[in-house]
Amino acid sequence: MSAEKLKLGFIGWRGMVGSVLLDRMREEHDLEHFDTVFFSTSQHGDKAPEGSSEGELWDAFDCDALKKMDIILTCQGGDYTSRMHGELRKASWRGIWVDAASTLRMKEDACLVLDPLNKGLIKEEIHKGTLDFVGANCTVSLMLLALAGPLKAGMVDWISTHTYQAASGAGAQNMKELLKQMGHLYNHEAKLIEDPKSNILELDKLISAELQGSGNYPKELFGAPLAGSLIPWIDSPMENGQTREEWKAMVEGNKILGLTGNQKIAVDGTCVRIGAMRSHSQAITLKCKSDVDLSEFTELIAKAHDWVDLVPNTKEATLERLSPAHYSGSLNIGVGRVRPMNLGKEFVNIFTVGDQLLWGAAEPLRRFLRLYLEVTA
Ligand code: HSE
Repeated sequence: MSAEKLKLGFIGWRGMVGSVLLDRMREEHDLEHFDTVFFSTSQHGDKAPEGSSEGELWDAFDCDALKKMDIILTCQGGDYTSRMHGELRKASWRGIWVDAASTLRMKEDACLVLDPLNKGLIKEEIHKGTLDFVGANCTVSLMLLALAGPLKAGMVDWISTHTYQAASGAGAQNMKELLKQMGHLYNHEAKLIEDPKSNILELDKLISAELQGSGNYPKELFGAPLAGSLIPWIDSPMENGQTREEWKAMVEGNKILGLTGNQKIAVDGTCVRIGAMRSHSQAITLKCKSDVDLSEFTELIAKAHDWVDLVPNTKEATLERLSPAHYSGSLNIGVGRVRPMNLGKEFVNIFTVGDQLLWGAAEPLRRFLRLYLEVTA
């Protein structure tokens, strides 16, 4: 007789991250290993989607229903986590909580999951009886996946990373606003844009006036122009002058790697929103502990795990592959522009790109579920 399957409750499966996660779970046949119940915050009682072991959606605010689950997987967002995680734990629920939101990430007894980097640590935490497992910030996961080779080899002294983050990181409606901004600029001056004889400085003046707020350029969500411009601020301010997004790089990065005290690697840089749709990029200055042999270093990067797509440092390869457009929808992490720097022999320049909804959010969670089954089998 086969063992009973664990009951998995899935909340927030209709949102952007949740949909990407559900698609990946279907592709990888993850749902077949669980009795999955789909919950809804607003439409409980409606028909459940394919892959559900129940006919109907259950109420995501019903503590008694949630308590029946062995594992809760949520992409519903931080407000939901704040409300229901506490309520369930207070009600003595001892199941596994798997979350995409940032709420629980820095809680001492929560484990951040990114198995190509910290499979050993995750397994230890499962054995230890840890109950909360959380996906890290997208740029943090994508940076660590790109640098897995040198990080695992213990050769990294510090990291400076400046990000180029896509609109998707701000949410589905923000992606639409970016497209509206693009359309607005084109439509506003379509005639001059299409006229090969029009004066570019005149055209630029008209477009700049739009960007500077003379018309009805749409920027309600971003609060500033993104198409035709950029925004060097993501998330809320921290007391030290960083943004919260910038702060996460070092605290979450070291937590994933299990580095504490003076083992910690310093990570810092400016996080910037740019007009890409879905994939995040980062320009990294890596300071190693000793002089770098570039060919050995490059091999270390390339062979770290199955998802590194090493892009040769040539114009042709860079234009062909090293862009948000190229990696959107892919599990590959592009790593290119690997070259020595004028700063000294211990420094390497790297540019990396990855899909912020896949490895940046959904993939570590579904892989954790499979790892949990493997470890507890
Ligand atoms: N904080 C990220 C961003 C979203 O704003 O791009 C993914 O964690």
